Amino acid sequence: MAESITIDPTLGKAEKYTALLPQIYALTENENDMIANLANIAAALKEAMGFFWVGFYLVKGNQLVLGPFQGPVACTRIDFGKGVCGYAWQMRQTVLVPDVEQFPGHIACSTLSKSEIVVPVIKDNQVTMVLDVDSDQLNNFDTTDQYFLEQLACWIAEKICM
Ligand code: SME
Repeated sequence: MAESITIDPTLGKAEKYTALLPQIYALTENENDMIANLANIAAALKEAMGFFWVGFYLVKGNQLVLGPFQGPVACTRIDFGKGVCGYAWQMRQTVLVPDVEQFPGHIACSTLSKSEIVVPVIKDNQVTMVLDVDSDQLNNFDTTDQYFLEQLACWIAEKICM
């Protein structure tokens, strides 16, 4: 098992993701505990990509409940349709938010968070969790992040979800 993540910090964003995803797959493929794997994925993404906050909210009944994450403490429960995370759950689609202050109903866990991307993980046609990534810079996410984080979400649905 790979026990560390090695990413050249001088690489561009797409190249970093291209180097990172196979390392995440290697890190998680021989472990069957979902929480352990999600914890390592959050740590790997935050460390390699330099994001402000990376974490998972798990669907439990009619709420999202905070799961493994890296970064400052965050709100623990989000209702269906609420905030960016609840909206991504409801829409079953990735939501890109260039400026969180412009998103109606955005839930501010930290005033330092300026932009955000939320990617649902869909298994057997059900959203089982969302991957939430926050940046402390405005407009920090684009279709490159969406493309690679959706690849990761598919991997999580296939290999990590129990
Ligand atoms: N901003 C999110 C809440 C989660 S935190 O960013 C960690 C939202 O509006 O759903």
